[in-house]
Amino acid sequence: MAVSTIILAAGQGTRMHSDLPKVLQPLAGRPLLAHVIELAEGVGGDAVYVVYGHGGEQVREALADHDVRWVPQAEQFGTGHAVMQAMPDIPDEHLVLVLYGDVPLVSRLTLGALLKAAGDDVLAVLTTEHGDPTGYGRIVRGEDASVRRIVEEKDASPEVAAIREINTGLLASPAARLRKWLDALDKDNTQREYYLTDIVALAVADGCTVNAVRTPASDEVLGVNDKLQLAEVESAYRARKARELMQAGVTLSDPVRIDVRGTLACGRDVFIDINAVFEGDVTLGDRVRIGPNVLIRDSELGDDVEVRPCSLIDGAVVAAGCTIGPFARLRPGTQLAESARIGNFVEIKQSDIGACSKVNHLSYIGDTTIGRDVNVGAGTITCNYDGANKHRTEICDGAFIGSGVELIAPVMIGANATIGAGSTISKNTEAGKLTMARCRQATVPGWKRPTKK
Ligand code: UD1
Ligand code: CA
Repeated sequence: MAVSTIILAAGQGTRMHSDLPKVLQPLAGRPLLAHVIELAEGVGGDAVYVVYGHGGEQVREALADHDVRWVPQAEQFGTGHAVMQAMPDIPDEHLVLVLYGDVPLVSRLTLGALLKAAGDDVLAVLTTEHGDPTGYGRIVRGEDASVRRIVEEKDASPEVAAIREINTGLLASPAARLRKWLDALDKDNTQREYYLTDIVALAVADGCTVNAVRTPASDEVLGVNDKLQLAEVESAYRARKARELMQAGVTLSDPVRIDVRGTLACGRDVFIDINAVFEGDVTLGDRVRIGPNVLIRDSELGDDVEVRPCSLIDGAVVAAGCTIGPFARLRPGTQLAESARIGNFVEIKQSDIGACSKVNHLSYIGDTTIGRDVNVGAGTITCNYDGANKHRTEICDGAFIGSGVELIAPVMIGANATIGAGSTISKNTEAGKLTMARCRQATVPGWKRPTKK
């Protein structure tokens, strides 16, 4: 059956105590709702509907990249009412999958099982066993163990409240039936809301089967209502990512101290030390070693690259065998060719560094092309910005730049040229020659230090 997915995301999230709508609160650096939409996209259904309300425009803007149909629910009259808003566009012969904007960790496997358990005359609900069922709807089964209804905690008798099997809220239902059941809902309950959960009893009354798909992994169905639960979900996400990496052969010095906020692809025998953060799309080649306290964003590191402690790598392409850091910063547009070395307190931006070249200490290299086997001395600065425009520096193969040199762009240093330490270079220099641009050292005869009067 074709699937239409409805994501319920209109709730306010009062308990967040935040100006940011709940479904925009970040999980692994991206809005909760983005995770759920991707989950829905992964199902491969026909269309994804997002029922939104609180923070409406802000929510739509933040997720504008996604191909979803936005359905407003101006006032929140309950989960049943929310689903009703999306139903007019959904064909009768579809299966409707209901997801929650604040339940982001459900696996594809679980959703697959839920969809498989539903059918033309079959409603499937996702449940789990909970040590502390407080706050959840309880799954009430008959003597034959079949599901009879769902009772919200606020409407539960003590016997029902003692039930440990809870409603995760996620369900799959045939659209035609769902439409009919939704029409029959009333607000005859403690919260004066249209409860989506009441469709279970209606399905049973209709002679339909209700399948409860019980997921054993209760962290999959963790919901986010406050910052504590947000942190719990973040840590479950972190653990999941760490597990995936280790299962793929990556060595983590401590699986609770790595954050993957995006996709991280690793080669063989990669080692990652503590407090590494990966954002966006990152690729690490074989035998890459990442030191402690490193942030890598949208970058590609080749085989045998070593990143030493406390380095920041953003938008860089690093070829095999390079060494970076400690305390290095590679900014977007940096490309390092094979076996280049970038040392401590070095910042590189929009620059190509040739094979086996070294920028080892305290330098700024911006808008520069460096050839191969170049040595850039400590404290060298490319002066790339004249206050209005950026200019390029070119340093050709084999050049040796002494310490403390300023290269005023646009400027070119010839191949195998040597630049004397402390020079301020503003004109192109000849290949193979020594160039210096600094005052000659002089000793002033007869000079006396001033003394206090
Ligand atoms: C709901 C279920 C409960 C289940 C629990 C799981 C009902 C009546 N109860 O309770 O059985 O155990 O989830 O977390 O369904 N929403 C809207 N519009 C509304 C109301 C809610 O979009 O008018 C959205 C919320 O943003 C949220 C989701 O629906 O994403 C669930 O709503 P919430 O009020 O949190 O339901 P619970 O009372 O937790
Ligand atoms: Ca909830």
